Amino acid sequence: MTKLWGGRFQKTPEEWVDEFGASIGFDQQLAEEDIKGSLAHVQMLGKTGILTQNEAELIKNGLHTLQNKMKNGELSFSARYEDIHLNLEKHLIDEIGPVGGKLHTGRSRNDQVATDMHLYLNDHVQIITTKIEALQQVLVQKAEEHVYTILPGYTHLQRAQPISFAHHLLAYFWMLERDKERFRDSLKRIRLSPLGAGALAGTTFPIDRAYTAEILGFDGIYENSLDAVSDRDFILEFLNNSSIMMMHLSRLCEEIILWCSQEFQFVELDDTYATGSSMMPQKKNPDMAELIRGKTGRVYGNLFSLLTVMKGLPLAYNKDLQEDKEGMFDTVKTVEGSLEIFAGMIDTMTVKKENMGLAVQKDFSNATELADYLAKKGMPFREAHEVTGRLVYQCIQRGCYLKDLSLEDYLEASGLFSEDLYDAIDPYEAVAKRMSAGGTGFEAVKAALEKAYSKLQKE
Ligand code: ARG
Repeated sequence: MTKLWGGRFQKTPEEWVDEFGASIGFDQQLAEEDIKGSLAHVQMLGKTGILTQNEAELIKNGLHTLQNKMKNGELSFSARYEDIHLNLEKHLIDEIGPVGGKLHTGRSRNDQVATDMHLYLNDHVQIITTKIEALQQVLVQKAEEHVYTILPGYTHLQRAQPISFAHHLLAYFWMLERDKERFRDSLKRIRLSPLGAGALAGTTFPIDRAYTAEILGFDGIYENSLDAVSDRDFILEFLNNSSIMMMHLSRLCEEIILWCSQEFQFVELDDTYATGSSMMPQKKNPDMAELIRGKTGRVYGNLFSLLTVMKGLPLAYNKDLQEDKEGMFDTVKTVEGSLEIFAGMIDTMTVKKENMGLAVQKDFSNATELADYLAKKGMPFREAHEVTGRLVYQCIQRGCYLKDLSLEDYLEASGLFSEDLYDAIDPYEAVAKRMSAGGTGFEAVKAALEKAYSKLQKE
């Protein structure tokens, strides 16, 4: 079997060597982009007179035929032709004859493959930002329903201060807002065309790179041909942005998993997002949240794998770069799937607001209120902290909470106390009073909700 590049060779590799070197098993996902890139290239070859109009037309029609055949599942690919580029070129030549061999004039697989991946990520980054936005929409809606639902806020996973559940959910809204911004910003670098860089050094043919870039919807071209064919920073950036976003999802997953436990009982997932145990009939496991938390690991892995592939590569193209694809495809699939599942999971989960409310009645998350109360009455905060700490200790000894101590108990600790202390330590009051910008106070949260909604509308 002769290779498309076989002229210089006396022997052909054995089949298993071919298989090892082939990327067709995964890069066939780039088939559409590859044909799109070829169509732009051939249009440019015709326009610049590098090919005759007639040749360009024949090739264009041939490529359209391949597009249709692909749609109907009539194109088969083979490891014998290594990758998607050579497979399609072979099909083209089979379709229209030797003139098909003119498509590759002034082009190399090196600029071709880089172009395909830029096109691929341009599409998928936009799909991802749309999905992020859909999830943000679900989060603000849930938040709007729960402005007055209060639960303990934690630091060190120890109860710290009561907060509005809406405030908690909106924290993730803003993380996702930055994630979306990062993805959108990366489009500037994704929308650069490597096409026309050739194998590494450009070409002697009078090509028009700006023209192909424009046809393909890119905003500009890579300025340096060596850079164009050999860097994969745009993929690394995508993997990095994906890793950060998955880390955000994973943190909320972790919280949901905790909240579903019998110890918390703060939320219940809809049956469609949970699974049972094959042995223990009582179980309802938050599998989807666990899985997204787990999949975060594979996205990090993909980032590190490509960083490692790249670190020692001399300019320009090296076959090592073929290793850039599987992690990218896998990440796209993982991120898109996770966002979709996540939105559905949040949308359908039941928030057990009574349990959340009950939790702040039976804890010391109002201790800061008591210290602030004394401080407002003139006691230095450090001292107020000490007095409150001793009162908390007293409660622990007696097995009660701050609201259960009598006014006499309080007066014994400090003469500054009076009856109004009980209002001051009410958890609802504690939340309501945190009116500082970005704080959990109900009014502050309502303002934040408005901001969040207007962000979504603007985009
Ligand atoms: N399948 C190859 C890749 O993914 C395409 C580029 C091959 N170029 C070459 N000179 N061998 O990177």
